[in-house]
Amino acid sequence: MEKTIQWVNNVSRMVDQTVIPYEFKYVDIKTGQEMFDAIKTMIVRGAPAIGIAGAHGVCLFAQELASLNLSRDEFVAKLTEKANYLVTSRPTAVNLRWAVEKQIEVIKNSQSDISGIIKELIENGIKLENEDIEINKRIGDYGAEVVPKGATILTHCNAGALATVGYGTALGVVRSAFAKDKSIQVFADETRPRQQGARITTFELVMDKIPVTLITDGMCSYFMKKGMIDMVVVGADRIAANGDTANKIGTYTVAIAAKYHNVPFYIAAPLSTIDTRIKTGDEIKIEERSHEEVTHINGKRICAEGVNIINPGFDVTPHELIAGIITEYGILRPNYNDSIARAFEQK
Ligand code: MRU
Repeated sequence: MEKTIQWVNNVSRMVDQTVIPYEFKYVDIKTGQEMFDAIKTMIVRGAPAIGIAGAHGVCLFAQELASLNLSRDEFVAKLTEKANYLVTSRPTAVNLRWAVEKQIEVIKNSQSDISGIIKELIENGIKLENEDIEINKRIGDYGAEVVPKGATILTHCNAGALATVGYGTALGVVRSAFAKDKSIQVFADETRPRQQGARITTFELVMDKIPVTLITDGMCSYFMKKGMIDMVVVGADRIAANGDTANKIGTYTVAIAAKYHNVPFYIAAPLSTIDTRIKTGDEIKIEERSHEEVTHINGKRICAEGVNIINPGFDVTPHELIAGIITEYGILRPNYNDSIARAFEQK
């Protein structure tokens, strides 16, 4: 698969993830506001992918502001404001803020005129795209080392090529393991309410001819009890300094079931997903999403009118349920406060 999101001819070209598996098509995002909406409506989703989308969004806003005849100072002030606005499109995945802050650094450090700043922002956006794929391959290779021969790996949501620029984090581990051992297979959780597991993870794995079995979210403990799951690998949206990890709603349930059944539960994520500014998962803001995601499936209402709805997009898995955090700097193990701090020193 080519890059799932990339800067081409002054626009951001990305796979429209809302129409998978019915269609596989690229859309061009041409303005900063279109990018805000693409992130919010999940045309682009997955923490690393929305990070790159944020970096591209800053380039798009910069191009628009350049046509307004602003002074350099006014341009920088307005662009910084727009960049901070982009971060509010989805609050939980820290990669969005991380990538936008990288762009803000470029703006602050630039000695160039307005067109020079835009050029530097675009170059930096492309650099982040390329680094993302390299980082995922490193995560995949480290992760493959802990995949037992012939393993069945359970994953939740989609932390694959489509959630990144390419290769994936949790599915990067699967891809690297499969390259070495064709007898591994994946169990993919459906992932209510947006079905990223059913729609996107199975799509990616079938495309790569990696054996995958789709199960509904409530089934994981049943298969763990039967001894049919050897390990769990999922992605992350934000990891606190103590290892507490926010990921797609339902991940916490999988982690509890894994602990009960002695199945190792791993997180696969780049260091850009680790937010060392927060001490524990209690400080992670959880996105509350539209109630229609719960009341409707494929545009059709599935419950009585008047029912109360609550729809948090993510939950936080406590660090004590996590066997290891697979990063591009190796597998971090408990005590996470120490191993995370060491990984950042190594960087
Ligand atoms: O709401 P989503 O689909 O953006 O949530 C995505 C996840 O929870 C992923 O597991 C996470 O972002 C890691 S993607 C490599």
